[in-house]
Amino acid sequence: MCGIVGYIGKKEAFPILLDGLKKLEYRGYDSAGVALLNDQQSLRVYKAKGKVINLEEKSSGNDLSGTIGIAHTRWATHGEPCEKNAHPHYSSSEEIAIVHNGIIENYQSIKKDLQKEGYNFISETDTEVLVQLIEYTKAKYHLELFPAVQKALTCVIGAYAIAIIDKSHPNTLIAARKSSPLVLGVSDNHEEFYIASDASPLIEYTRNVIYIEDEEIVELSIGKAPRIENLQKESIEHQVNEVSFDIGMIEKGGFPHFMLKEIYDQPDRLNDCMRGRINKELNEIKLSALIDHKDRLINAERIIILGCGTSWHAGLLGKQLIESFARIPVEVEYSSEFRYRNPIISEKDVVIAISQSGETADTIAALKLAKERGAFIFGIVNAIGSSIARIAETGTYIHVGPEIGVASTKAFTGQLNVLTMFALALGYERGSIEKEKYHHLVNELTQIPEKIEKIFAQEEKIQEISKIFTYARNFIYLGRGFNYPVALEGALKLKEISYIHAEGYPAAEMKHGPIALIDEEMPVVVISTKDNVYEKVVSNIQEVSARKGRILAIVTEGDTEIKNMTENIIEVPHVPSELEPLITVIPLQLLSYYIAINKGKDVDQPRNLAKSVTVE
Ligand code: AGP
Repeated sequence: MCGIVGYIGKKEAFPILLDGLKKLEYRGYDSAGVALLNDQQSLRVYKAKGKVINLEEKSSGNDLSGTIGIAHTRWATHGEPCEKNAHPHYSSSEEIAIVHNGIIENYQSIKKDLQKEGYNFISETDTEVLVQLIEYTKAKYHLELFPAVQKALTCVIGAYAIAIIDKSHPNTLIAARKSSPLVLGVSDNHEEFYIASDASPLIEYTRNVIYIEDEEIVELSIGKAPRIENLQKESIEHQVNEVSFDIGMIEKGGFPHFMLKEIYDQPDRLNDCMRGRINKELNEIKLSALIDHKDRLINAERIIILGCGTSWHAGLLGKQLIESFARIPVEVEYSSEFRYRNPIISEKDVVIAISQSGETADTIAALKLAKERGAFIFGIVNAIGSSIARIAETGTYIHVGPEIGVASTKAFTGQLNVLTMFALALGYERGSIEKEKYHHLVNELTQIPEKIEKIFAQEEKIQEISKIFTYARNFIYLGRGFNYPVALEGALKLKEISYIHAEGYPAAEMKHGPIALIDEEMPVVVISTKDNVYEKVVSNIQEVSARKGRILAIVTEGDTEIKNMTENIIEVPHVPSELEPLITVIPLQLLSYYIAINKGKDVDQPRNLAKSVTVE
């Protein structure tokens, strides 16, 4: 779960690599490093613990020349975060340098074999084993770099996206992948090549990308078309795709943090998500996946939704939406549990994978398992061309643009938006939702973006409330029905960025245990909007108040009843209960943002986390 970037061309590589690393820092920021090769065949590696900025400071004043280079930003898996374990790693002779995202599972046994051959290791990483194996293979079989990498990779079990440079091949950059993402950017006339873990570092330079597939190796040399082969030495041709997202979408646009920008982006991004899919005059939904695979989808006997973290929370809401509108039974599973429990899957099952990044290792593995067993795979993904998008037989992109803040915000509402459209359209096709209700809800859905804008008008109030609760050690979040998964998501946001312990519960479950935690020190965030369980939630608020818990309530605008129970109130516009999560999650995102800011935390890059969890 690291980020890699590489460049070969006529420009100086260092600034390009550094800039690329900054764009990939969401993937990890335990350490950063760069290897540069110039035409005098001088290979140099610079590394620093912590963020890319440390690398920038540390390497200044050194020889940074070179038109070929590779770089890495790390999320530690094998070996503590320190300079010794930072990438790039050299081979013993310091002739070859490598960067790697993934895990080599059999590195211990390869290491033992290489130690018997006299190889020494400096770091504790699995990656150093790989570069030594490549050097060993190259020497033992008298191979050029490309076939040596190809042969070495046949001995490897695990996941990798790698980039390699070699002093003895000064016009070559080699990259390969298996189960970790790798994108190749190609300039006109093959004058320059870029590789990276996703397209964001490339788009400033080229829009033409090739998505390298599993077990493929690519050799890049200036002026030549990329040579791509698989591990069986078969030559591979790939089509060149055009990436369309705008560079402005991955910059902060005047906001102090990506997270705040992404919260504020939600109205526009939800409009993007609905554009071309909802006919606002007829209040109708057209999803191409549902048109192209209508029979398979409307005849599903069961739907299984897979995801992790926030995407799993969206899945819980997907279940409620699909069961309400389409009347198909839905199960929601953590991908990480599903993949190891020998699940029963039939050919009549549809599996929906939800993933912002499209690269979450557990979700990829769970999907592959479901696909092998005959299920039909539907992806709800943000990252265009990502692994999950390509494994899925069909799907619907959420189209909310790159999400950089580690804590997911606009991806969550984008996922909910797609799930709502999917459930409504599926229900309509199956005849399980009344026509009138369908058109009414479609119309209400199109109004969500402007209703979110209204919540932003209360930002100052949310900021004030955040100050009251900043130094709490624990939080409880309560919600019922459609707002129960929102309670889970609100608690996750707070944990991730402010490091305050928080738990979400269905409000009525509180009296079965968690109520024992309530005292005057315990903030309880209650989502208590006017829906069919409103009166019940009001009773839950009274139970908390009776035990002196400190209530912060999310209420429907105009509510007077709850106003009499607590002064900490955030109002949200009225929407039908099925659409409420798209609205009620917004104040919770802002609340966690401001609490983290009050505590001086790094909201965009919280400790121990990475945006895309590409290891299991
Ligand atoms: C959300 O704030 C988290 N950063 C995390 O739970 C995330 O949702 C999870 O890792 C799944 O990622 P994905 O959507 O890219 O698959």
